[in-house]
Amino acid sequence: MMMISSMHTTLFVGTSLFRHTNSLRTLKFCLPFSSSAASSLSIDKKKWRQSVFSALEVGGVKITRQDVVRDDPTNNVPDNIFSKLGMQLHRRNQHPLGILKNAIYEYFDTNYSNKFNKLDDLCPIVSLKQNFDDVLVPEDHVSRSYNDTYYIDPQTVLRCHTSAHQAELLRSGYTHFLVTGDVYRRDSIDSTHYPVFHQMEGFRVFVPEEWEASGMDATSFSAADLKKCLEGLARHLFGDVEMRWVDTYFPFTNPSFELEIYFKEKWLEVLGCGVTEQEILNRNGQPNNVAWAFGLGLERLAMVLFDIPDIRLFWSNDERFTSQFSKGQLGVKFKPYSKYPPCYKDISFWINESFTENNLCEVVRGVAGDLVEEVQLIDNFTNKKGMTSHCYRIAYRSMERSLTDDEINDLQWKVRELVQNKLEVVIR
Ligand code: DAH
Repeated sequence: MMMISSMHTTLFVGTSLFRHTNSLRTLKFCLPFSSSAASSLSIDKKKWRQSVFSALEVGGVKITRQDVVRDDPTNNVPDNIFSKLGMQLHRRNQHPLGILKNAIYEYFDTNYSNKFNKLDDLCPIVSLKQNFDDVLVPEDHVSRSYNDTYYIDPQTVLRCHTSAHQAELLRSGYTHFLVTGDVYRRDSIDSTHYPVFHQMEGFRVFVPEEWEASGMDATSFSAADLKKCLEGLARHLFGDVEMRWVDTYFPFTNPSFELEIYFKEKWLEVLGCGVTEQEILNRNGQPNNVAWAFGLGLERLAMVLFDIPDIRLFWSNDERFTSQFSKGQLGVKFKPYSKYPPCYKDISFWINESFTENNLCEVVRGVAGDLVEEVQLIDNFTNKKGMTSHCYRIAYRSMERSLTDDEINDLQWKVRELVQNKLEVVIR
């Protein structure tokens, strides 16, 4: 999940299907602050009154389908992703993600006397600069590829992390903040990965008097405060657990750490964090100060805290799911109401240079939506002529009902057809 971390490995970092040109306009309407966004729209408001296929509102800004999904090689946002914009599961107080967000708010409000500003309605459409440059993600970092990130056009993406908002919030004068939001990543398919998930970003700035009084240097002071804060948060959420800190790498922090907790006999990575790179503070009006930052994935924690076995369930409207959670009740254990049998179908093909697993998963999701549970590479070989064959096993399973053979065969035929036509591979 932690794409920006050094631990992120992509199996297939091939050339993207979506070729890169520089011909498209960028979206200007999505400003970082929901409250000011509507009033300072730089484009003609009449545009929003045109008849549209579908429109939604995020933070007071209307977004239409054609602003996000376009039949152009520089756009790789499918309709099923567009349909998630504006859902904002993290803002529902009776949803596990909203309950978790509120529990984290409670920790910060109590321990820091409401000093942290809470933002959970910032628009997920951001510029390339916000998503990557502002947080020092290198030009050649894998997360910038069309294979990993949803591009609306060459300069505009669906944010792949809430860190995309750090710089602008700093420039606007925020020094203590929590940003919660939906984030978007092209990825593989299994029970813990979904192309839309939710993160919370925390950020705290210190002025020189704060560390000078401690006798510590700025970086050590900031790192020590960060660790104390996050250990307290982990205890607030998980109770009296064993924890450990692991050194890691993020482009935007130095030093960088991951916090792990020992839960159900396993070490579980809870969040990434670190002392903010001075360059970020220098560029955004805080040159004399130091800061810490953290980012955590809400689904990952909620799956553990509520015993939710499959990430697709967060999107379920089935009352048997939604009725099990209520406001303020952190950690109520989810009781599975069914386990319908999975159905497995294999597909084998000779790949080409541009083939990637993420592109395959995108096609499968486009056909089967949330009926696909997992796509797994089960065979991989190269013949004497140098041609490489992959065989993938697709697991179809509904969370809500039994699927019929006919229905699954139908899906599988559509997948085969589209894999052949869109990915230009040769089915075996
Ligand atoms: N943006 C990181 C990711 O999505 C998470 C993260 C790590 C955020 C460290 C931070 C941080 O603010 O300091 O993988």
